[in-house]
Amino acid sequence: MHVLVTGGAGFIGSHSVEQLLEAKIPVRILDNFSSGTRDNLPKHAQLEIQEGDIRDQTAVHKAMKDITHVLHLAAQVSVQASVENPPESCSTNIGGFVNVLQASRVNRVQRMVYASSAAVYGRPAQLPLSEKVMAQPCSPYGLEKYVNDQYAALFATEFEVSLLGLRYFNVYGPRQDPQSPYAGVISKFISMIEQHLPLSVFGDGAQTRDFIFVKDIAKANVQALQSDMGGVCNVATGKIHSLLELIDILSRCANQSVEVVHQAVREGDIPFSETEITRLQSLMPTDGFTDLSTGLTALLQYTANPDN
Ligand SMILES: NC(=O)c1ccc[n+]([C@@H]2O[C@H](COP(=O)([O-])OP(=O)(O)OC[C@H]3O[C@@H](n4cnc5c(N)ncnc54)[C@H](O)[C@@H]3O)[C@@H](O)[C@H]2O)c1
Repeated sequence: MHVLVTGGAGFIGSHSVEQLLEAKIPVRILDNFSSGTRDNLPKHAQLEIQEGDIRDQTAVHKAMKDITHVLHLAAQVSVQASVENPPESCSTNIGGFVNVLQASRVNRVQRMVYASSAAVYGRPAQLPLSEKVMAQPCSPYGLEKYVNDQYAALFATEFEVSLLGLRYFNVYGPRQDPQSPYAGVISKFISMIEQHLPLSVFGDGAQTRDFIFVKDIAKANVQALQSDMGGVCNVATGKIHSLLELIDILSRCANQSVEVVHQAVREGDIPFSETEITRLQSLMPTDGFTDLSTGLTALLQYTANPDN
């Protein structure tokens, strides 16, 4: 295998690159470093870095040279930015995606796995969320990921490209940037705890989420590249926690009491999530996934000392 990881310098990308290299698989990354950094990446003889943009067809075709497998993660990842500037978000998340898809087809790569998202479900009519639940995206970002899934289905059936879309749920772990206004709730809470500030919860805190540790996402990516599963697959733990439960676990892991300030429910917030991971379980064992308190402890340690 020789794997191209687009967005390899980012949060999920850098953990995936690490695990591929650990498995002795050579990796090339294509990244424009808009949110990812070179510091996220190890120095490794089997790692090649190509700086470039997935919106640039020439750069994407160049990055495909001698590649057997593609892990496509590069994206405009902010739901909020997609709401504020849909054309800009679309240019990366649909235009860039189609460039990578077409280059995979033309270069006859053996397999392409790409990052879809739980955001495609939006405000679903039913729970739990299995892949069969109808997508009802409620942001341009969610719609863009859903369009990715449809493009992939077409390229798989009409052009025989081997493709799998992974619908990640709420990912947390080291290297997620808490300074970003769009960072996940866990990195924001940890940043507040470190500063001994109260945690803001929108609504009563009973809203539930499935939080998955980034190293388990990376494991699923590596496994998916080596499988022949098609279509889309949820990547989650199958265990949900309310925000108040999350805060309770965080406070115990940090060994610190925390104050919670309730604010008005945010427009567009999704109250409940419940995941179904039967398909993922047919791809890989999930019982070894990191439980929330172990993952939070690892993240707190990393945040206190990022160089270790
Ligand atoms: N983090 C989550 O909770 C989550 C959940 C669901 C889906 N996803 C998806 O997973 C993927 C990775 O997300 P992440 O959390 O690691 O985000 P990230 O911002 O850390 O990583 C994205 C990477 O893509 C690069 N990039 C962005 N636009 C690019 C472009 N036009 N050309 C080349 N490179 C570009 C960035 O520099 C960065 O390195 C994305 O597709 C995202 O939509 C993430």
